[in-house]
Amino acid sequence: MREPILAANWKMHKTIAEAVRFVEDFLPRVTDVEGVEIVLAPPHPCLERVAQALQGSAVRLAAQNVHPEPQGAFTGEVSVPMLADVGCTYTIVGHSERRAIFGETDAFIAQKVAALLARGIRPIMCVGESLAQREAGKTFTVVETQLEGGLQGLEAPQAGELVVAYEPVWAIGTGRTATPEMAQEVHGFIRQQLEKRFGVEAGRVRIQYGGSVKPGNVYELMAQPDVDGALVGGASLDPESFARIVHFQPVEESS
Ligand code: PGA
Repeated sequence: MREPILAANWKMHKTIAEAVRFVEDFLPRVTDVEGVEIVLAPPHPCLERVAQALQGSAVRLAAQNVHPEPQGAFTGEVSVPMLADVGCTYTIVGHSERRAIFGETDAFIAQKVAALLARGIRPIMCVGESLAQREAGKTFTVVETQLEGGLQGLEAPQAGELVVAYEPVWAIGTGRTATPEMAQEVHGFIRQQLEKRFGVEAGRVRIQYGGSVKPGNVYELMAQPDVDGALVGGASLDPESFARIVHFQPVEESS
């Protein structure tokens, strides 16, 4: 059984005070949650204070990015040992915003994945096609290339540490979510690709869906056999909204 993993990707939002306020508001709303892993990925300056605020809870800390080198002349970057030091359990890598805006390549993402795993931090590796790629029928090719490129050198025993986030670029921040069937189709494909590489260990990899996930659509997405969680941007900024997502209950019909 794969434990569902629901992660908040705050992107470039929240000051330290706002981040701590979120945690204080959020934690009491999720004390009843069992068997679900909850992850918060605040901006780097908030990591330490959020780690402190999360102490005593089961909610995990993630960073949104990392550099593969352990130290050196890389102005503006943050290393794996620094993230380990501040208490990160996870780190997001290869988000489509980093690929598109900052030109990150699959080879660079693979270095990050390897550096994180070597230090015991679990990567959340994002893959996903653009609208033009989907319309051109290239979704599977794009996802296959990103998976192969990003997971170079990863061995089967490490596979269980990995989280893959399928985030169709056209669904991110647009309010346009993939249907549960569309998500399952690509998640099933990702699982097959992982099986080719890792054999039975592929069954341990958790695959999150990301792209306009909200309290109202998370239940149906989570009901798909290969959807093991969600990576949530906009709807994770509000504690009540993210708490509802973490509970992933069916939306009650209003009469
Ligand atoms: P969104 O972002 O939920 O705002 O669409 C998801 C993501 O980019 O991780």
